[in-house]
Amino acid sequence: MSESNSIESVLHETRVFPPSAEFATRANVSGMESYKAMVAASEADYSGYWADLARKNIDWKQPFTKVLDESNAPFYKWFEDGLLNVSYNCLDRHLATQSEKTAIIFEGDDGKVTRVSYRELHGRVCQFANGLKSRGIKKGDRVIIYMPMSVEAVVAMQACARIGAIHSVVFGGFSSKSLHERITDAQAVAIITADGQFRGGRAMPLKPAVDEALTMDGCESVHSVIVYRRIGASIELDDDRDIWWHDLFNSQSSVCEPEWVSAEHPLFILYTSGSTGTPKGVQHSSGGYLLGAMTSIQWVFDYKPTDVFWCTADVGWITGHSYVAYGPLALGATQVVFEGVPTYPDAGRFWKMIQDHKVTTFYTAPTAIRSLIKLGGDLPKQYDLSSLRLLGSVGEPINPEAWMWYYNVVGQGRCPIVDTWWQTETGSHMISPLPGATPIKPGSCTLPLPGIQAAIVNEAGDEVHDQHGGFLVIKKPFPSQIRTIWGDPERYKKSYFPEEMKGAYLAGDSAHRDADGYFWIMGRIDDVLNVSGHRLGTMEIESALVANPLVAEAAVVGKPHDIKGEAVVAFVVLKGARPADAAAVKKLAEELRNWVGKEIGPIAKPDEIRFGENLPKTRSGKIMRRLLRAIAKGEEITQDTSTLENPAILEQLKEVVR
Ligand code: PRX
Repeated sequence: MSESNSIESVLHETRVFPPSAEFATRANVSGMESYKAMVAASEADYSGYWADLARKNIDWKQPFTKVLDESNAPFYKWFEDGLLNVSYNCLDRHLATQSEKTAIIFEGDDGKVTRVSYRELHGRVCQFANGLKSRGIKKGDRVIIYMPMSVEAVVAMQACARIGAIHSVVFGGFSSKSLHERITDAQAVAIITADGQFRGGRAMPLKPAVDEALTMDGCESVHSVIVYRRIGASIELDDDRDIWWHDLFNSQSSVCEPEWVSAEHPLFILYTSGSTGTPKGVQHSSGGYLLGAMTSIQWVFDYKPTDVFWCTADVGWITGHSYVAYGPLALGATQVVFEGVPTYPDAGRFWKMIQDHKVTTFYTAPTAIRSLIKLGGDLPKQYDLSSLRLLGSVGEPINPEAWMWYYNVVGQGRCPIVDTWWQTETGSHMISPLPGATPIKPGSCTLPLPGIQAAIVNEAGDEVHDQHGGFLVIKKPFPSQIRTIWGDPERYKKSYFPEEMKGAYLAGDSAHRDADGYFWIMGRIDDVLNVSGHRLGTMEIESALVANPLVAEAAVVGKPHDIKGEAVVAFVVLKGARPADAAAVKKLAEELRNWVGKEIGPIAKPDEIRFGENLPKTRSGKIMRRLLRAIAKGEEITQDTSTLENPAILEQLKEVVR
């Protein structure tokens, strides 16, 4: 677990901001008494509580008769005999009442704005869904989506949902190797991609990474690659396999009967890093997942039909699934979808977009907030941000300094901040303030949502009530949780339901609770780093490094970073001798950084590389990671190093090559 200065300052945080009377009066959940009543209702009749919400929020083709099936725990099932279609719930059901309402305000990297109504979006999803069917893609098939932020990415996801195909979105910043790993694990039949993407004024190709991935072994299952033209690059199309999006799309009818599926039918697989091995294919359901996205938007984002909602996350991450592609549409919201980056053309981009589109609800990550403070802490004041009424944070602990800036400068002291704790595996928010009820404290995600029984336990799985903290668990199954790891049920059980936890879901974070019962997240308990809110396994980066012919051994640890939250520090042992002059060492470090960028993706590039003749190991050969973390942070080494096989190398490893 990493400890940073920001965590230190969180521990001393005592400020409390209750909701204003004005906000509370209009809120969907108004006042703590209402919140407590919801919690009490969920505890009094747990499955009944969720069943009522599922009936109220979701349009069922065939109502469910069973609520929660725990007979094969921890493989839980919710609403299993109910039939629904997620795309129907996101689109068709709004047509009678609000077909002309804007569903998506898309702003390109270049600032060009396109508005798409519910009627248009529905038509496009049906047309593309028919296109997928015309390629023989059917219910249960896996489809990889490797696209830039675009209306088309949302259309692609919704079209898969419409025909019951299971999508797996791969973030456009991942390399061809990462893409290949996911294609083969999911045994995908098709890939939906684009010729490229615009980011910060630059056109970057995407399709070549798909081509490269498909030249590697194990991709025989892929029969179709559908390419959306975004940047106008001249690219190679394989006549048998590849087809332009517009060629597939234009000839199709805009009527497509949804495929009615069981609530337990997998809606998608999303890969995320764990502490060991290759990324895990987190499998989500249709009914329970949709319910979590919908209830959380109503409670946490206090959703009102007049809102303009903007979640800045890419659809390549879970946040972009639940709070871009599905949740807002299921509620019939108007939302902003943004292709570009927060710093282009300058660090006022977000604030200008909030002003231009009259955004009411803005949801972003602490890393973006910190970088925008650094690049232009006064910039928000140049824009009219009076439309904002609520701010959200996600992905990592937010340090109180960044929180206060977000609250005072962006929210002008008027907008509550919802610091939402959740994970790829939980599908939707788990612990978060309800903005019209919960008094907020900078740095705390506060209290569990109604129907979520979060707790802190010790290594034996027993609940601890003191303030020292322990492992964060969720005691009861909940509708939006992970169903299994795709193709690896054993790993699912081992990762999330180890025996000591007595049936509770082990989140992989440590946390403590204060005297008010508020949760404060401390960080991961495993070898997972959180770099700019993105999860990276140290082992993945180590495997990438040792795959380089020059590298004999590597160990990767995290260290606190002002903007990214955590930085990646790699300790590397070369096969041959380390180059003698400093310039050559620097060149080699750069080469290895780029290598990791190619193996995994630019987000995984080590910030620092240190070379040694060896790594610090115990006599039994175990790498002493605690020591490496101390070295990375530049701390005095206070640990006992007497069991080290090779104490002399510690000095070598202190030297940083940037
Ligand atoms: O460590 C927690 C951190 O992000 C992890 C989940 O990462 P991922 O599955 O990529 O999902 C990120 C978006 C939901 C968690 O185990 N994390 C997420 N939200 C918070 C957080 N840490 C502190 N505060 C949060 N609000």
